[in-house]
Amino acid sequence: MTAPAAAPRTGTRPRDAAPGDQGPEIWCEDLVRVFSTEGVEVQALQGLNLRVDAGDLVAVVGASGSGKSTLLTILSGLDRPTAGSAVVAGTNLLTMTAARRKHYQRDVVGFVWQQTGRNLLPYLTAAENVALPLVVARTVRRERDREARVAELLELMDVADCRDRLPRELSGGQQQRVAIAAAVANRPRVLLADEPTGELDEATSAQVLEAIRHVNRELGTTTLIVTHDPSVAEHVRRTVQIRDGRTSTEVLRRSTVDEHGREQLVAEEFAVLDKVGRLQLPREFVESLDLRDRVRLGLEPDHVSVWPDASPPAAPGAHDASGTSGTSGDAR
Ligand SMILES: Nc1ncnc2c1ncn2[C@@H]1O[C@H](COP(=O)(O)OP(=O)(O)OP(=O)(O)O)[C@@H](O)[C@H]1O
Ligand SMILES: [Mg+2]
Repeated sequence: MTAPAAAPRTGTRPRDAAPGDQGPEIWCEDLVRVFSTEGVEVQALQGLNLRVDAGDLVAVVGASGSGKSTLLTILSGLDRPTAGSAVVAGTNLLTMTAARRKHYQRDVVGFVWQQTGRNLLPYLTAAENVALPLVVARTVRRERDREARVAELLELMDVADCRDRLPRELSGGQQQRVAIAAAVANRPRVLLADEPTGELDEATSAQVLEAIRHVNRELGTTTLIVTHDPSVAEHVRRTVQIRDGRTSTEVLRRSTVDEHGREQLVAEEFAVLDKVGRLQLPREFVESLDLRDRVRLGLEPDHVSVWPDASPPAAPGAHDASGTSGTSGDAR
């Protein structure tokens, strides 16, 4: 694994950009969510920073219990954070009124949940499930126009042949693709998906991820997929890792052309730096150098070095994390 560089994209919004339509499509700063049950407090989110630009497709990955669903439930407007800021498509999620919340959930964001049964009404056909949000929001009033829109969406998701079937007559992958069609029916600016492939096998998961990519590309919907499945990361350009309720690292994938004209996919890992300069070192770095309690830092012309506290003493310019003078060495 190469040394992660400081991430340029996650974290704080430029100071001069006011929350609103000019800012990123999803923006969270210092997001905290504390659950209290029977006197026990669980800090599900511990100062999470995340920035997603309009039109991006981003995967948030992390171990079970790292706070992924908590983040998505907040972004979908179903839950409020304990502290911090969250702005999605110009809507401030902490201050929105009940009326605004209704509009937000109906028209601004679409969601797809892991449990296929939670996404679709079991007694409606695929076409009726996709038409439902259009009827509820009264976005397409004429029945003929509605039918055309439903047909277009089912076609886009490659499930046109399923239009008259009930959810129980569809495979898990088909159900999720119909669910995506329903989620984007009202042209939401943002699509949120919590483990959309969690109940599917590998081949079906790949089809559903491709369907999500298709929506992102064709409709320009900003998309956030939350998953504990690291293979999802291979399908998206940007993956943000959550650890203990905080964004810790992110991987950006881009294609380059080598000297023989062949396209190659390059993945670069970055550590996320918050606005006061904190970052999480990858666990394997910490373990491999047995870093603990405190470390020595060195400022070099083009990088910062980190050494175990037990390193031999001092070269100029190096100091430990608390700011006192210390040791130098090449840890890059
Ligand atoms: N409503 C709740 N009440 C109390 N604790 C909660 C609640 N929801 C989540 N938590 C706790 O918050 C932490 C984060 O949970 P969350 O569901 O966000 O994790 P996750 O990353 O989605 O995990 P998984 O991959 O298993 O779905 C966990 O410790 C969980 O037990
Ligand atoms: Mg979850």
